Amino acid sequence: MKHLIDPMDLSKQETDEIISLAQDIIAHRERYQGSMSHRKLATLFYEPSTRTRLSFTSAMMELGGQVLGFSDARSSSVSKGETVQDTVRVVGCFAEVIAMRHYIEGAQLYASEVSPVPIINAGDGSHSHPTQTLTDLLTIQRELGHIDGITIGFCGDLRFGRTVHSLIKALSRYKDIKVILIAPPELKLPDYIKRDVCERTGIPYREVETMEEVMPELDVLYMTRVQKERFLDEDEFDRVKDSFVLDAARMALAKEKMAVLHPLPRVNEILTEVDEDPRAAYFRQVENGKFVREALIVKLHEWKNDPEHGMPEHDTPVYDDTLHCGNLKCICNQEKAPAKFRRSEDGTLRCWYCDAKVR
Ligand code: NCD
Repeated sequence: MKHLIDPMDLSKQETDEIISLAQDIIAHRERYQGSMSHRKLATLFYEPSTRTRLSFTSAMMELGGQVLGFSDARSSSVSKGETVQDTVRVVGCFAEVIAMRHYIEGAQLYASEVSPVPIINAGDGSHSHPTQTLTDLLTIQRELGHIDGITIGFCGDLRFGRTVHSLIKALSRYKDIKVILIAPPELKLPDYIKRDVCERTGIPYREVETMEEVMPELDVLYMTRVQKERFLDEDEFDRVKDSFVLDAARMALAKEKMAVLHPLPRVNEILTEVDEDPRAAYFRQVENGKFVREALIVKLHEWKNDPEHGMPEHDTPVYDDTLHCGNLKCICNQEKAPAKFRRSEDGTLRCWYCDAKVR
């Protein structure tokens, strides 16, 4: 069975299949209208969401299926202390596929270990957001006509932005990608992505501290919100919250065909004066999210019993009860997930569930 917990759970070919199916759905919506009739999607959202949850709901409805679930865990048995593993075992009796968002990192991976139905990670803490990645890839493809060969600038909160982490991973499989990281020192991209993704796969990346210096080179500018809810220290948040703002003057420095993406919601990092610029793709990106989620639901259903489309061969886990993941927001510090680790190429051990460095 195929779950989508991390963008790399899909092969490059599977990713491309989903993107092209989404394009076919856009071109021939009527052909897919009944493809999920009498089937149900459960949306289990332990963290606030507008776009992601509603786009899953809308996607399933467009396919003729139905949706159940919760958008506030306080109204579910979670408030009685139910574990994520028990919750998915139960919900798996009621729905054919589960989309889950959680503020705890690794929650969906842990849940998928016992789930009777495919689990889709709709965002886990600051860790991953693979369906936003599919949305972003489809948007780049539609806006520019290609993904290979792009220079992409990520701007804002690269430390906590799970959409950034997942998109960089996915882009590592395309040709001639160049990444430019635009962030203040406090919000830099985590080392494990720089090392295990960019350096290992040979994506050139550069870190800069102003937008102006790189604007003319970019094919895609990926803006992000500084995420207040992820900061443990409010003063630190106040220092960086207004770090980078995109306005018409900065847009004037960019290529005529650049695309501005943002997973949304925005706070003040893109002024509304940019919205009418034809290069502002973020509202089109929202709609792409619905089409790509339709394609994903169809494909996961099709692949469910196909041994050709299982989960990728992950590295062999290292079990060691003497080691401990120090990330308080990881599932292994919230529920009784086993002490399980992944060995990186440079010999470091990382938590199996959240990728935090352990040794
Ligand atoms: C993002 C998320 O939730 O990670 N939004 C989204 O899914 N569309 C980005 C954010 O919340 O800033």
